[in-house]
Amino acid sequence: MATEKITLLSSRELEKMRHAGQLAAALLDHLETMIKPGVSTLELNDEAERWTQAHGATSAPLGYHGFPKSICTSVNEVICHGIPNEKQILKEGDIINIDVTPILDGYHGDTSRTFFVGTPTSNAKKLVETTYECMMRGIYAVEPGGRIGDIGAAIQEYAESQGFSVVRDFVGHGINRVFHTSPQVPHYGTAGKGKRLRPGMVFTVEPMINEGTHQAEMLPDKWTAVTKDRKLSAQFEHTIAVTKEGVEILTLPEDQKSAP
Ligand code: MF3
Ligand code: CO
Ligand code: CO
Repeated sequence: MATEKITLLSSRELEKMRHAGQLAAALLDHLETMIKPGVSTLELNDEAERWTQAHGATSAPLGYHGFPKSICTSVNEVICHGIPNEKQILKEGDIINIDVTPILDGYHGDTSRTFFVGTPTSNAKKLVETTYECMMRGIYAVEPGGRIGDIGAAIQEYAESQGFSVVRDFVGHGINRVFHTSPQVPHYGTAGKGKRLRPGMVFTVEPMINEGTHQAEMLPDKWTAVTKDRKLSAQFEHTIAVTKEGVEILTLPEDQKSAP
């Protein structure tokens, strides 16, 4: 890994990241209301783009390294970077990860959740609940003076204890005015290893957890990553900041914030 510098954000910059993060969380809350059998992933994309513009922001994915749409929609065996499409219609029992990244006042808020379409199978329910727990355990492994490897170790230990596997080919990332920057944040690894965590660092924790093999395969569109065995994959993502006290989740939805 290159020894790139990790940017530490000022409190003024953190405030802007908070606003972008809150907008991203609100966008997912909004899109969640549309999820039902019969809806196409393109309809979700188009509403995301309209809503983002109406809130004075732009969609970071659109045109990013040539990505053709405003959000990523990853259904069932798709690990990440699924491209919204009018022919892809959600059906009862699907799982869908929606990954959004609005840019507000120059700063990025990057968050994703996996939703159920109708009633999930018991396999899907266990995978999605485990993946959410993996993300939260990774986030709460963050403390100033700790190491990047603490995050992946916490995630991997829990995922594998539940009989699932951790995707290696995609990692969390530093984020600020730049969409993807250092550090890289693997969702597997060894506690006590890797770069030191310092107050002011901002990055994503976005584990992709598979039902079967961790191995990924790229579809011919060069974006859509699927599981090699075509079993299910789930993902959750928050943008977080390392603070003097511990960690702040910048993309936590309003209704999950408890009173001070
Ligand atoms: N939001 C994704 C992430 O979590 C990146 C999407 S890049 C795109 O890092 F080009 F596929 F949109
Ligand atoms: Co994302
Ligand atoms: Co991300």
